[in-house]
Amino acid sequence: MRELLADTAARATRYISGIDDRRVVPSEEDTARLQALGGPLPERPSDPAELVALLDDVGSPATVATTGSRYFGFVIGGTLPAALAANWLAGAWDQNAAMQIMSPVAAKVEDIVREWTLDLLGLPSSSGVGFVTCTTMANFSGLAAARSALLQRVGWNVEEDGMFEAPAIRVVVGEEVHVSVLKALSMLGLGRSRVITVPADGQGRMQAEALPVLDEHTIVCMQAGNVNTGAFDPAKEICARAREAGAWVHVDGAFGLWGAVSPRYAPLLDGVSDADSWAIDCHKWLNVPYDSGMVVVRDPEHLRRALSAGSAAYLAQGAGREPWQYTPDSSRRARGIELWAAMRSLGRSGLREMIERNCSQARLFADRLRAAGFAVLNDVVLNQVLVSFGSPEHTRCVIAEIQRDGTCWCGGTVWRGHTAMRISVSCWATTDEDVERSVAAMIRIAKSVKPE
Ligand SMILES: Cc1ncc(COP(=O)(O)O)c(C=O)c1O
Repeated sequence: MRELLADTAARATRYISGIDDRRVVPSEEDTARLQALGGPLPERPSDPAELVALLDDVGSPATVATTGSRYFGFVIGGTLPAALAANWLAGAWDQNAAMQIMSPVAAKVEDIVREWTLDLLGLPSSSGVGFVTCTTMANFSGLAAARSALLQRVGWNVEEDGMFEAPAIRVVVGEEVHVSVLKALSMLGLGRSRVITVPADGQGRMQAEALPVLDEHTIVCMQAGNVNTGAFDPAKEICARAREAGAWVHVDGAFGLWGAVSPRYAPLLDGVSDADSWAIDCHKWLNVPYDSGMVVVRDPEHLRRALSAGSAAYLAQGAGREPWQYTPDSSRRARGIELWAAMRSLGRSGLREMIERNCSQARLFADRLRAAGFAVLNDVVLNQVLVSFGSPEHTRCVIAEIQRDGTCWCGGTVWRGHTAMRISVSCWATTDEDVERSVAAMIRIAKSVKPE
């Protein structure tokens, strides 16, 4: 065991040390070599050291360097050193974070991270928090709490009696709602297409004045940080209207909620703390390993009622917060450990500095690309940039060539009818030099590529 882990640590260290000197995406040959991992399952046991060596030799070159400093696709942050180290230790601990009795350290760390997060993001300090895999599950969990609360008000127990014949719930979303919210609604029996859709402005912000009449049977799903533009729905107006009517507001704040830690970006989130539930991603901007998200619900009882499994004689209920009462899953890894490590290693000022640096790097990208004659399609209010290199065909060819080139990686999108490249800056390791090197590659490619 000792030699195996030391060898694995050495291999992982070599991988991380070389990450910025390699292509961001693997070559076709590297991907083709993955065949070596397959074949029939061996009849006899394999030596762990040999299989780790095979995994490293064949697998490492076929990774995408998402934890490196020049990956600007989707919204994928890297992994902070402290978070990775904590992940290794927690892996060795092999804790089941479901119950206090299974892991006092996992339960305690969740309590601590719950408090730190609510404080950092300015959310109500008595809120309930569940440690989930991703924003999709955080949206699911927050909306499960909303569904439970709204139906309870009219005397319907959805956990016991289900959705058949339940009183109706209306769901309002913005035109630019993230697909994960619609997926969550579909899983909750609320339907993807049953929603009332509010038009959005040119940045993707829900137009508050176009909200329908709200009431106590309505859930409004708003967004803090549009996945394309980074724009924020107007929380103050939406929450005020909802409060007056007794409606529930759920915030999909995957990466945008982290903006609250910076006085520079907090005004974009004005009023967001008046909502009822929030979904937050941690594998994105907090830069912990996949998979990690948090659901926050103002009244913990709604979250607990929606997600607790009920009782079984062999499952002990301790005093205080039982982690599994606040998540869809029961047995799970202790993902709170990495959150604790990331927050403690950065401190409040380090987290603020990382967010502000990534946002100013997004502006640097936009300035350089505009100066080179390309159109930036969004107001760069946070860490997202949309750029068009000309016609849709030309933009698509440039994106494909940037991806092939390997200096950096960005994905494509269509924003309000315009084909664009998305740049998302969300990694602790990204330096201004990384931005300059990447933007130089983008401009060189955009000027040399001819549409196919
Ligand atoms: C606004 C928003 N909501 C939800 C998601 C889904 O996040 P996850 O992939 O963690 O489920 C994303 C992902 O980029 C997002 O940007």
